[in-house]
Amino acid sequence: MKISSPRGTSDILPDQIAAWQSLETTARTLFRTYGYSELRTPVFEETGLFKRSLGETTEVVNKQLLEVKSQRADAQDAGFCLRPEGTAPVVRAYNQHGLGREEFLSKLFYVGPMFRGERPQKGRLRQFHQIGAEAIGRGADHPLLDAEIMALAVNILKSAGVSDFKLKINSLGSAEDKQNFAQWLRDELKDKIGHLSDTCKDQYERNVFRLLDSKDAACREVINGLDIGTRHLSASGAAYFQRVREGLDRLGIAYEVSAQLVRGLDYYTHTVFEISCAGLGAQDALGAGGRYNGLIEQLDGGDRRFPQTIGAIGFALGMERILLALEAQGRAVQTKRSLDVFVVCGKAVLERETFALVDSFRREGIAADMDFGGERPVKKQFEQADRLGARFTVILGEDDAGAASLSVKDMATGIQRPLSPENMAGQIKNML
Ligand code: HAM
Repeated sequence: MKISSPRGTSDILPDQIAAWQSLETTARTLFRTYGYSELRTPVFEETGLFKRSLGETTEVVNKQLLEVKSQRADAQDAGFCLRPEGTAPVVRAYNQHGLGREEFLSKLFYVGPMFRGERPQKGRLRQFHQIGAEAIGRGADHPLLDAEIMALAVNILKSAGVSDFKLKINSLGSAEDKQNFAQWLRDELKDKIGHLSDTCKDQYERNVFRLLDSKDAACREVINGLDIGTRHLSASGAAYFQRVREGLDRLGIAYEVSAQLVRGLDYYTHTVFEISCAGLGAQDALGAGGRYNGLIEQLDGGDRRFPQTIGAIGFALGMERILLALEAQGRAVQTKRSLDVFVVCGKAVLERETFALVDSFRREGIAADMDFGGERPVKKQFEQADRLGARFTVILGEDDAGAASLSVKDMATGIQRPLSPENMAGQIKNML
């Protein structure tokens, strides 16, 4: 039986790789200009890390964790799962290595695969890739940093060539404001929830915010009838949000305030945001993020080393969705194969000379290759050179009298001329 890649995962093939590399390079360039350093964490972690941070009632933890089982599991091994997101692992690493002791503000970024046991569909995979950033530390408790991090996410998308996306923002306020918000929602919905589906009733009980994201038509109607606004915000919560918006205005970043935006993960307080792109269908979020000031202390096992004012904010962009958007907008980066020189072996007896010549080019940093097809005709070798995008071919042959003949052909112009056997690499380098 043929084995395929698991459902909801995909292979990134050589002719797709340029688009991935280009997106990654764009992000890395911007991270550097904004002062972010890369952090790499394991792809699996203790399951408890995600339960404690994302929340036991969230979809990701409840239904989507992909558990890892070792055939040699030790009794003292905790349960492991593949990471469904990058924020909790970054906070775990921040605490574990005491980064807060050395740095007033740690600006960290990551690029890599995440795993969620979702029902696969377009733009929704079980292994997908995120580009993410997290700013953590005493210096991260500042509204201008909220504006800066949103600008960074927006600028990565712009530099990658994506257009037609929208930044939606909201504020949940402090932890206390958020509780008041949840209570207000429960009070407003108390009389209406009886008419809704069992799923909605369950969400009402377990995590009322999830109703705001509900796709259920009857529930949507009820939610749309609510006058949510920003009444849950205390004076200081409202002032904070105001300063965030002023920061965005200052940076010239367009946004829309969306009262229904609350985000599905438990750790958020204050600013939350999402970037969506028209034309992507149901899975239209290119990225999302928000502030999670309480998480650092919460994951530090009750060791109160940190002052209350430790702040944290971050975002993650979905790479597959960005690439889908670029493709839909006709801006996908195409893979171009490129090779400096392809050495054509004009006679079977010259195979070893060809092999050695290719090697001598490579030693000089020239991208070189040859045909490994045995005694394939010269015409076939030229076709192979074309497929590999060779700029030049060097043809190694023998004339009728058995004397060595050596020439070089410019594949773009078709002009062929003799090559001297001395310092061939130097001659090629001068032509490149
Ligand atoms: P999230 O909203 O769960 O947030 O994911 C962020 C982005 O990852 C989504 O907007 C989407 O583009 C992409 N994504 C999520 N799930 C899938 C999937 N199954 N298939 C394809 N793409 C997907 C987080 O992960 C938070 N850690 C973001 C954050 C960072 N908040 C603060 N810091």
